[in-house]
Amino acid sequence: SECRQLKVGGVRATDLTAEFGSPLWVIDEQAARDRAREVRTALQREAERIGTSATVYYAGKAFLCVEVARWMAEEGLAIDVASGGELAVALAAGVDPARIGFHGNNKSEREIARAVEAGVGTIIIDSEIETERVAAAAAAAGVRQRVRLRVNSGVHASTHDFLATSHEDQKFGQPLAEAPRLVAAILAHDSLDFVGLHCHIGSQIFATDGFRESARRLLSSYPELERIAGRPIPELNLGGGFGIAYTSSEADAVPAIADVARELADIVAASAEEFGIALPRLVFEPGRAVIGQAGVTLYTVGTTKAVHLAGSDADADPDDLGYAERLYVSVDGGMSDNARPALYGADYQVRIANRESDAVAALVRVVGKHCEAGDIVVQRDLLPGDVRPGDTLAVAATGAYCWSLSSNYNYVPRPPVVAVRDGGARLIVRGETEDELLAKSIFGQDEHTNGAT
Ligand code: LLP
Repeated sequence: SECRQLKVGGVRATDLTAEFGSPLWVIDEQAARDRAREVRTALQREAERIGTSATVYYAGKAFLCVEVARWMAEEGLAIDVASGGELAVALAAGVDPARIGFHGNNKSEREIARAVEAGVGTIIIDSEIETERVAAAAAAAGVRQRVRLRVNSGVHASTHDFLATSHEDQKFGQPLAEAPRLVAAILAHDSLDFVGLHCHIGSQIFATDGFRESARRLLSSYPELERIAGRPIPELNLGGGFGIAYTSSEADAVPAIADVARELADIVAASAEEFGIALPRLVFEPGRAVIGQAGVTLYTVGTTKAVHLAGSDADADPDDLGYAERLYVSVDGGMSDNARPALYGADYQVRIANRESDAVAALVRVVGKHCEAGDIVVQRDLLPGDVRPGDTLAVAATGAYCWSLSSNYNYVPRPPVVAVRDGGARLIVRGETEDELLAKSIFGQDEHTNGAT
């Protein structure tokens, strides 16, 4: 019988694991580029429709390496970085520093100095203390640094608590009510060029009402900021956070980016009119919505075990769909390459990638190899009941916040990242070896003393 196999970017999954090993992160380059362009053009088209323009930054925290930074720059996106390390990657990729934005609630003075000296286009100031630090660094470098102020609009986005970032009781940004005072403090520095407010309400958000409410609240403060500055405030940064479908059941809930863009443009236009201010240029910073669905993780099944579920209907978990048993399928990776299920209870879907099967479906939980019961890759899905050791499994939508949140828990080396395109595959991030991890240990007193003298 024909053995149908899953392909990513025109390459068979099993050819990828044969060449690059398992587990393996795979990024479909064309899908990432197409989506980057789609998101950028949707947001820019709508901004232009209302009579302004938009800059779209790719939020590198979702997944950044030199190659991906290049793709994004080539597709016309600017790059948002959140640490000195991400900044170094973007610069190494040859990204125009003027098209880099630098975020973070606790950037070090060194990071700030490096960003200023590199000519980073915009630094997003997160606090009053940071205003002084950025002003000093810019003065020392003899430049006038463009800055935005990160504020909280007070909108509590409907998403996982860890992903909501614009209510007051969390670490990022300053209360919107404080903006006039903080902006005045920024304006008092000749070395700072204040260009507008920034607000990121949270991440993996489907409903657009939070984005709209936040935009309107931010713009409601612009008249006062204009008075303080004695000029229009030229920009408004609405952050990222646009959700994606991780499972087919979520697909209907995700609004098309074109619709989100239209709704945001409309509220900005209406608010500018309502508050009598000049239309600001718009800025966005999507990460997940750009790269999330371009990634697939391939694993190899090591063991399986069936567990009987609660016997009586009364005890049964309705999410278990009436199945009498759950098949635990252990793979060769886990929470070290995808922390999201353990961190956020995130859902994924899985399929067998190396063969087709007519076996009756089984309720499965795909688990990793780490020493934690919460080491889950896929909480609940259906797979052919004959899933067995040696099978290749593919977990979709792992392009965002998987490599970037990865760890070496249990001294498990990180897998490599491979880009596939037009039927070809190439390494874009090297994997790690056990020897490299072992080499981090200091070997005994001699070496220690030598190192100290
Ligand atoms: N801008 C700012 C200031 C941000 O803090 C973030 C994400 C973004 C943009 C991009 O958000 P996105 O478009 O990717 O949703 N580790 C979590 C997500 C944390 C997001 C942190 N900030 C996860 O895996 O779901």
